[in-house]
Amino acid sequence: MITNDKFVELARTYGTPLFVYDGDLMLERYRELFSFIPCRRLHIHYALKANYNPALLTLLRDAGSGIDAVSPGEVALALALGFSPDRIIYTANNMTDAEFDRVMKTGVTVNIGSLSRLKKCADKYPGSRICLRFNPDVCDGDNAMTMTGGDLTKFGIMLADADEAARIAGSGNLHIIGLHEHTGSGLQHAESVLKSMDNLMEIATKERFAELEFLDFGGGFKVPYKDDETRIDYVDMGRKINEKFDRFCEKYGKELLMRFEPGKYLSAECGTLIVEVNTIKHNRSRVIAGCNSGFPQLIRPVLYGAYHKIENLTNPDGIPSLYDVCGNICETGDRFAEQRLLPEIREYDLLAVKNAGAYCYSMGSVYNLRPMPAEVVIADNKVADFRKAQSDEELVAGILRK
Ligand SMILES: Cc1ncc(COP(=O)(O)O)c(C=O)c1O
Repeated sequence: MITNDKFVELARTYGTPLFVYDGDLMLERYRELFSFIPCRRLHIHYALKANYNPALLTLLRDAGSGIDAVSPGEVALALALGFSPDRIIYTANNMTDAEFDRVMKTGVTVNIGSLSRLKKCADKYPGSRICLRFNPDVCDGDNAMTMTGGDLTKFGIMLADADEAARIAGSGNLHIIGLHEHTGSGLQHAESVLKSMDNLMEIATKERFAELEFLDFGGGFKVPYKDDETRIDYVDMGRKINEKFDRFCEKYGKELLMRFEPGKYLSAECGTLIVEVNTIKHNRSRVIAGCNSGFPQLIRPVLYGAYHKIENLTNPDGIPSLYDVCGNICETGDRFAEQRLLPEIREYDLLAVKNAGAYCYSMGSVYNLRPMPAEVVIADNKVADFRKAQSDEELVAGILRK
């Protein structure tokens, strides 16, 4: 565990804003999934979109993880870091023909989520081995924007089209080696995972799909963001998942691989964004703590109304007061927290924005031409990797390149 003193030391050494990642915690989360789900044939494919820090990916690679990639860029990064193609699944939506061709050449398993793309694949790549993504028709997630099940979303082939999918696949002698579903991110109810599994398994019959090697049940495992949020009982859920899968394999007549693709579960809690407060402003009704980062570096509060716990690292015992913790971007909504009770914040205090390991840096942008911040990875209780912040000059050179 990284102590607050250590966070302060890292901030003083590397400067702020600084993302600090606890690689040991990430590996702990990875390993505990195997104890929660006692399945010998469980494969975890980390959803790289959550956090693509190369040092974290290397830790996961060495621990045996595979990758869930959603763009040719993510596939290219995973391959460059030494993940073998058979450990990568490519689950893009609305991909272009050129993107599809590029990824087909790499030998990674392509996961197709529309009948239209399936038809093109059958025509152009007859005989290839592919996975089909179905829409589980279960709506859950921590936010409407992260729910991917149900017919109001763009994801996956509808379950009712399973026969048509099998027919199209047959027309191109495609080998359907896997079926996939992803219900959403931050699933609130353990039952949703089980229900989505049921729905996928119902269409995964030997008659339709005789050559299955795996079923992939996506990601979505929730982590608590607030102090009073309870952790899902993953031991109980894992046992139920395993029993369900065993029953399915028995019926199907073959021991398939079980896959999950967690992103948030592995990376959210391991990340902390350290920012420095540079301005305290007393407005009529608000006290603003203005800091040297902003929503381009951690967009979840603005995009999803997400809650991120904030700690005052350098004045933890200050008298609590209400603050709007704001960034340095020219937008009113540029806040990490609104009316948050925090120990007195003074100019030059360091604040830690917690649970910043998933969908923060990876969703980052350089809006307002604020360069991407530095990242440091701690593993085995020491600094394993440091990536310096982009400089203004590098940012400008990137814009001016032709
Ligand atoms: C296909 C797919 N798999 C896995 C994930 C990972 O989700 P999470 O980070 O909530 O585990 C996502 C995220 O949206 C996804 O779209």
